[in-house]
Amino acid sequence: MRVCVIGTGYVGLVTGVCLSHIGHNVICVDNNEEKVKLMKSGQSPIYEPGLSELMKSSMEVGRLEFTADLEYGVDNGDILFIAVGTPPLPTGESDTRYVEAVARGIGAHLKDGYKVIVNKSTVPIGSGDWVRMIVLDGVAERQKTLVAAGAGDETMTQITAEFDVVSNPEFLREGSAVFDTFNPDRIVLGSNNQKALDMMQELYMPLIDRSFADDKNLPPVPVVMTDLNSAEMIKYAANTFLATKISFINEVANICDRVGADVVEVAKGIGLDSRIGTKFLQAGIGWGGSCFPKDVSALVHTADDYGYDAELLKAAITVNKRQRLITLEKLQKELKILKGKVVGLLGLTFKPDTDDMRDAPSLDLIEQLNRLGAKVKAYDPIVSQTGMRHGLTGVQVETDPERLADGCDALVLVTDWEQFRTLDYGNIAKLMNNPTIIDGRNFLDRAAAEKAGFNYVGVGH
Ligand code: UDX
Repeated sequence: MRVCVIGTGYVGLVTGVCLSHIGHNVICVDNNEEKVKLMKSGQSPIYEPGLSELMKSSMEVGRLEFTADLEYGVDNGDILFIAVGTPPLPTGESDTRYVEAVARGIGAHLKDGYKVIVNKSTVPIGSGDWVRMIVLDGVAERQKTLVAAGAGDETMTQITAEFDVVSNPEFLREGSAVFDTFNPDRIVLGSNNQKALDMMQELYMPLIDRSFADDKNLPPVPVVMTDLNSAEMIKYAANTFLATKISFINEVANICDRVGADVVEVAKGIGLDSRIGTKFLQAGIGWGGSCFPKDVSALVHTADDYGYDAELLKAAITVNKRQRLITLEKLQKELKILKGKVVGLLGLTFKPDTDDMRDAPSLDLIEQLNRLGAKVKAYDPIVSQTGMRHGLTGVQVETDPERLADGCDALVLVTDWEQFRTLDYGNIAKLMNNPTIIDGRNFLDRAAAEKAGFNYVGVGH
């Protein structure tokens, strides 16, 4: 099938590359010419395991191209994905101006032939109908321009603007987005039109029948076909549920700290109940990233718009904010006074296997430590190796864990990078002023850390 993906951010690029890999002809459009140039040369602008390899092979067989020309993309795609960002505004609402611009642009270029316009961006509930209106606005504007330019009836009748809107939320995790695309738990399609839903099902058939899955013997991927608003709500409900689940276990961890119980044992004990499940029960420094914080706030905001006070979701946010500060309290308890102390952060990104720093707990920690007069150093397997460190303020980014440890009064493990499991902690402890480690992810083995000479402090553990 002929696909056009507009926006080559995280979601758009992964979607475009993976759809071309399963056999479709994909055009990825981005208005950032520099980025288009980079991608045309076969380089991925984001770090995502496996992505650049697939990108190169699809380009080689001629099924994937990049352009800044929206009209070319719209002309040559039957399914048009809108995959631009919806970043949070200071109020917590989503900023939908990029979606609006793309929808208008699509409308302005629609000619003949039926198109399916797919909302892949996480948009406020109700956006499907809104996108439809904006596309129609774009069509009307173009018609006006053409009439003003003296276009004849023949040109005007070519603009049929036949399209339907589908909501197709993504559930990709950064760091395993390619795997998640080929091995989805479900595919959600929302539209009020069956023809559009059928085309989407055909598009995803190679994924539904598990042709590209790691385990090809699994039953077909369940497809949830529903209305537009329900599909949009599914995305928010999934992310807010997962974020709330983490806030829940963090709350339990804080109580564990007080009563002398171990949250790791508790999570195991409750997770084995199939109604609860073992995943997303790792207590720690709290959730961050580009999705959870934005989506939980946006849903609270939407509820508020409709006069509903989403108390549980607000509490999930409060617990998450507090969780970052609890690490600080633990440091204060161990070091007494933080002024003039040197604190080393192991990890900066919001989670491992990504270079994403959006809403990373480390940023709050750096700010608070600076406020209290501590000197902050950090080592991160990705950030330390890339130019990203230049954008960070209030922290000295070191090139290796030993340099980080040198002269530190405490270390805080902020991100659970697998590499941190096997560092030479004996040597690291020796290089420190005071070998204390706050394990913000309950990631290290307490006994091994203590054997290496550390004073080990976990989270409810
Ligand atoms: C998330 C959703 O998982 C994905 O389905 C959606 O499409 C986008 O948002 P992502 O932001 O990549 O994906 O990260 P995820 O792996 O879900 O982790 C989110 C945050 O929760 C991270 O900060 C992580 O460290 C934290 N987390 C996760 C915990 O603190 N404990 C856990 O048990 C799991």
